[in-house]
Amino acid sequence: MPVAPGPALCYEFLAMPSYAITTFGCQMNVHDSERMHEVLRRAGYAEVPAAEADIIVLNTCSVREKAEQKLLSEVGRLAKQKRARRELIVVVAGCVAQQEGERLLKQARSIDLVIGPDNIAELPRLLDELVLGSPPLVRTVFDTDAPRFLTALEVVGASPTAFVTIMKGCDERCSFCIVPHTRGPERYRPSGEIIAEIAALTAASVREVTLLGQTVNSYRDPTRALSPAPGHAGGHPQTPGASTDDPDESEFAALLRRIAAEVPALARLRYTSPHPRHLTPSLILAHAEVPVLARHVHMPVQSGSDRVLKRMIRRYSRAEYVERVGALVRTVPGVTLSTDIIVGFPGETEEDFAATLSLVEEVGFKGLFGFKYSERPYTPARKLGDDVPEDVKSERLARLFALSEALLGEHLARLAGTTAQVLVEGLDKGDGLLWSGRTERNEIVHIAGAADRQLAGEVVEVSIVRHNKHSLQGELTAAARAATTPRAPLHKTGPVASHSETPGRRSLPVLAGGLAGGLAGGIAGGLARGA
Ligand code: 5AD
Repeated sequence: MPVAPGPALCYEFLAMPSYAITTFGCQMNVHDSERMHEVLRRAGYAEVPAAEADIIVLNTCSVREKAEQKLLSEVGRLAKQKRARRELIVVVAGCVAQQEGERLLKQARSIDLVIGPDNIAELPRLLDELVLGSPPLVRTVFDTDAPRFLTALEVVGASPTAFVTIMKGCDERCSFCIVPHTRGPERYRPSGEIIAEIAALTAASVREVTLLGQTVNSYRDPTRALSPAPGHAGGHPQTPGASTDDPDESEFAALLRRIAAEVPALARLRYTSPHPRHLTPSLILAHAEVPVLARHVHMPVQSGSDRVLKRMIRRYSRAEYVERVGALVRTVPGVTLSTDIIVGFPGETEEDFAATLSLVEEVGFKGLFGFKYSERPYTPARKLGDDVPEDVKSERLARLFALSEALLGEHLARLAGTTAQVLVEGLDKGDGLLWSGRTERNEIVHIAGAADRQLAGEVVEVSIVRHNKHSLQGELTAAARAATTPRAPLHKTGPVASHSETPGRRSLPVLAGGLAGGLAGGIAGGLARGA
């Protein structure tokens, strides 16, 4: 990645300019924020707490209205600070920036820079211009002709888990969704670049990689370096329930296989979020044959009613969805599924919602993110109105969560007495006496009686002793204990905050909430994420 020019001239004789980034929204935004940190650090900026920063970056999300409102209230708060500190620079980045562009500057005079997700590398240059006296700037240009994917340059904090972007943008046209507008058309990253980044991450002690993309499994290699994956039938649609516009191109499956073959040090491979249309036979076969692939798939369904799915323009029916995930479950024993669901989509009747509940039961999701429908600008669904009353949306969401909690509870209860391979991510916040990690199936496991072992980043065998509401508790098996190395004992003196030992995990769909280190909330934790 080209390194941006040095810090602004005006800063030349001053202390290092400082910045803070606040992130709203999804994994993609978290990932973009990490790239902004790198770009800024490389250009000589120092990260400090927001209250002390010369530059505040708000990295925004616009998938639901609530996230956008949060941004505007934050901008309002900063406007007050700016009255006292005129040199403060306020940057709005991310999806709201892309969506609103110039309009944001008109709406909030305290904003100095509006920058889209594809323009992150230009951040230092644009800040230089501002420091040199430029009026407020807007830079929201999609890199459609020459897509760039910023690579992780540093592995900070030695987290055993990392995200790697493999595609960006979205060519689907789901009627509720603003993403095609804020992230542009689909662009794919060369497979060689993806593999090189994963190899570099594992060399720096990352054990688990999650491939990121808006419809991650529609991936195609722009360099055509992948050969067709097994299971693919010469491009003919073989997918259970597939229509002719869903051929099995198998490129995503081929990429997964290539990563597994070329980066043997990787312990686990996940991806998010796929589209059910691309849950093809070659992908299912890859799950069966590639051991590094975790046995958990987050497959957004959105609704269980065909009438609603059609109005959402999801391009599959309930039966097709069930058929496809059914084929996955039959082929990959023990695989767990989680999903995203929108309640209160325009025109959703009680009967439609009952169909969603029955689908959740039929598939047996072990976790879900549930959202109340939020009307978004530029989306086709605006034409449909927003006719489900707020209290009905809330009540449906509560029923959805109650069902999801019950399904998760039953699932976790069945696991007591079994053993599981746990990738340990860090020590629990609390008293720091429990290690936490996740199984291949994505259940969260707290490991007791092992505070004297060094487990961060290790895959260890754990006997599951009991289940909590959203997680499991277990102990190292004797063999696992013998195979691990000791560490200095911890005393029960209060929270442990050692950065290297509580690397934390950032808001990926997991089957339960409450993992140490800031998981934004669990799928099934009764959590109305974004609702
Ligand atoms: N209203 C509510 N939820 C939405 N999502 C996307 N757009 C909207 C909207 N307009 C949800 C979908 C998607 C998840 C990331 O956010 O469930 O899968």
